[in-house]
Amino acid sequence: MQQSFHTSYGPWALVTGASSGIGAEFARQLAARGLNVVLVARRAQRLDALATELRAASGVEVLPVPLDLLAPGALARLRDAVGARPIGLLVNNAGSASVGSFVDCDIEQELRLLDLNTRVPLALARAFAPGMVERGAGGIVFLASLIAFRGTPYSGNYAASKAWNLVMAESIGPELEEHGVDVLALCPGFTDTEMLDVVRPGLAGIPALRTMQPDAVVRDALASLGRRRAVIPGIWNKILHRFTELLGREGGARFSGGVTRRLVPPD
Ligand SMILES: NC(=O)c1ccc[n+]([C@@H]2O[C@H](COP(=O)([O-])OP(=O)(O)OC[C@H]3O[C@@H](n4cnc5c(N)ncnc54)[C@H](OP(=O)(O)O)[C@@H]3O)[C@@H](O)[C@H]2O)c1
Repeated sequence: MQQSFHTSYGPWALVTGASSGIGAEFARQLAARGLNVVLVARRAQRLDALATELRAASGVEVLPVPLDLLAPGALARLRDAVGARPIGLLVNNAGSASVGSFVDCDIEQELRLLDLNTRVPLALARAFAPGMVERGAGGIVFLASLIAFRGTPYSGNYAASKAWNLVMAESIGPELEEHGVDVLALCPGFTDTEMLDVVRPGLAGIPALRTMQPDAVVRDALASLGRRRAVIPGIWNKILHRFTELLGREGGARFSGGVTRRLVPPD
């Protein structure tokens, strides 16, 4: 099993947003499966600590690359850092979120969100897919979300950016699988990471909502890689998704926005 995972997605994985949450967990589980890992995020100390942990636990090679993916020339610097290491698995995980009323949003912050959540994964997929195609093996994970499937008032730009990731996986997946490269859209619901910090008080006020732990989300993702195009981790998220689908696109968006509105932090 480990042998075939390594053959399909090794010898190196590159995980963006590896300093916390879902990205750090991807790095742990990929290292545990014997893949060497490139860790990318801005917080260098976090990456160094994770690199030490992974080397000790799994004996793999780890390359921490402290980098702001939105900085000018970031992609070139990342390619230089990676050098000749063959990247067999790209996990396009780095992302940011926002909630709030559209007319009050900080447009510069929203444009940065759009760049990080869409332009960066596009550029990285374009940079690393050709090597995978050439080798006839590999995988790309796009981080979508449960709200990628519909509009979501009070988080429209984030929802649209996640829809982009879902549609990209659905679009380039069939192209790349002809060359032995698997593409997956990971669509988590609320997951207990730093990303939720800003909405935690609102979440606590909706006891019916469930959050998942990042390790379970990543386990579902890795089990789905090469088997399906998109995965919604966890039974609760699947039920919520089916229920929202039954409401239709417009009704589903209103329902989703009803939840998100309650998460908007007070001024
Ligand atoms: N948590 C959820 O409920 C949830 C649900 C659905 C989808 N997702 C998606 O899951 C992915 C991971 O999020 P998470 O929940 O694990 O949140 P998180 O713990 O906040 O992780 C976000 C990661 O992105 C990195 N990052 C942010 N800006 C960056 C930049 N400019 N350059 C490089 N790295 C940057 C952060 O590292 P630094 O700050 O060190 O740079 C961090 O490692 C995101 O794409 C998110 O949209 C999350």
